Amino acid sequence: MILQKEMEVAVIHFIVLGVLSGLTEGAGVLPDGPLNAAVGGKVMFTTTLTPGTTFQLVNWNFGANNIFTWNAKNYTEGRITVFMSTGSLELRNLVLNDSGDYSVNIFPPVGASQSGSTRLEVYEPVSNVTITSSSTELVEFSSVSLSCSSSGSSLSFLWLNSSSEVTGSDRVQITDGGSTLTIFNVTRYDQGPFRCQVSNPVSEGTSDPVTLTI
Ligand SMILES: *[C@@H]1O[C@H](CO)[C@@H](O)[C@H](O)[C@H]1NC(C)=O
Ligand SMILES: *[C@@H]1O[C@H](CO)[C@@H](O)[C@H](O)[C@H]1NC(C)=O
Ligand SMILES: *[C@@H]1O[C@H](CO)[C@@H](O)[C@H](O)[C@H]1NC(C)=O
Ligand SMILES: *[C@@H]1O[C@H](CO)[C@@H](O)[C@H](O)[C@H]1NC(C)=O
Ligand SMILES: *[C@@H]1O[C@H](CO)[C@@H](O)[C@H](O)[C@H]1NC(C)=O
Repeated sequence: MILQKEMEVAVIHFIVLGVLSGLTEGAGVLPDGPLNAAVGGKVMFTTTLTPGTTFQLVNWNFGANNIFTWNAKNYTEGRITVFMSTGSLELRNLVLNDSGDYSVNIFPPVGASQSGSTRLEVYEPVSNVTITSSSTELVEFSSVSLSCSSSGSSLSFLWLNSSSEVTGSDRVQITDGGSTLTIFNVTRYDQGPFRCQVSNPVSEGTSDPVTLTI
C-alpha cells in the first residue's frame, strides 16, 4: 500500500524527513487511538485542524513507511483519499494488516508544521456463532460441555442461561478463553436455554439457543 507519487515527491519526501527528525511524538492533531474498524470497511483519520488553509504539504506514514506525500488538491488513489483542507486521510477496503501506527505531518503556508499520530486496529467481524453440545439428552448428576465457535478476530465470549449471564462456580466452569462452558452434576434446573454471545470491538453476534433435556 505504498503510494509514492513520482520522483518530484520522492525529492520532497527526502527534504521532509530531514525536517521531521526534530518533531516530537504524541497524539498531536490526530485523535487518541486506537481507532477500531472492520475488515472490508473504512476508516477516516480526521485531524483536529480547522478547514480554511490550503496546506503546502501533507505527509502520511504507516509505521516507518511513507504512504502518502502530496502538496496539491484532494487526492484519491486506490484505497486512499487525502483531504487537503484538513490533512485528513480516509483508508478503505481495510485488511487485518492495516492495523498499526499512523502519523501525519502537515505543513501550512506559513508557521510551524503540525504533526499527529494514532493507532488503527482492524478486526474481522463476528459471524457464524454456533454452540456444539457434548450431549443434549442428559441424566441428572452427569456433566455436559457446551462449546462456542465463531468467525472473527479478537473474540470475547459471554454465556447466557435464559437471560442471565453464567458465571463460574464449583459446578460451572468456563474455559478455553470463555468459549467452553462445562456444567457438572446437572440438575433439572439447568435446561437453559443457553446462548453464547461473542463480541469484538467492531461487532457482536449471538448463537441460536440450546436447550438441555434432563
Ligand atoms: C476536497 O474535499 C472536500 C471534502 O469532500 C471538499 O469539501 C472540497 O471541496 C474538496 N476540494 C477540492 C479542491 O476538490
Ligand atoms: C497485507 O495482507 C495482504 C493480503 O491480505 C498482502 O498482500 C500484503 O502483502 C500484506 N502486507 C503486509 C505489509 O504484510
Ligand atoms: C459461515 O458459515 C457458512 C456455513 O457453514 C459458511 O459458508 C461461511 O463461509 C461462514 N462464514 C464465515 C465468515 O466463516
Ligand atoms: C457432584 O456431586 C457429587 C455427589 O453429590 C459430589 O461429591 C461432587 O463433589 C459434585 N461435583 C461438583 C463438581 O460439584
Ligand atoms: C440456569 O438458570 C437456572 C434458573 O435461574 C438455575 O437454577 C441454574 O442453576 C442455572 N444453571 C447454570 C448452569 O447457570
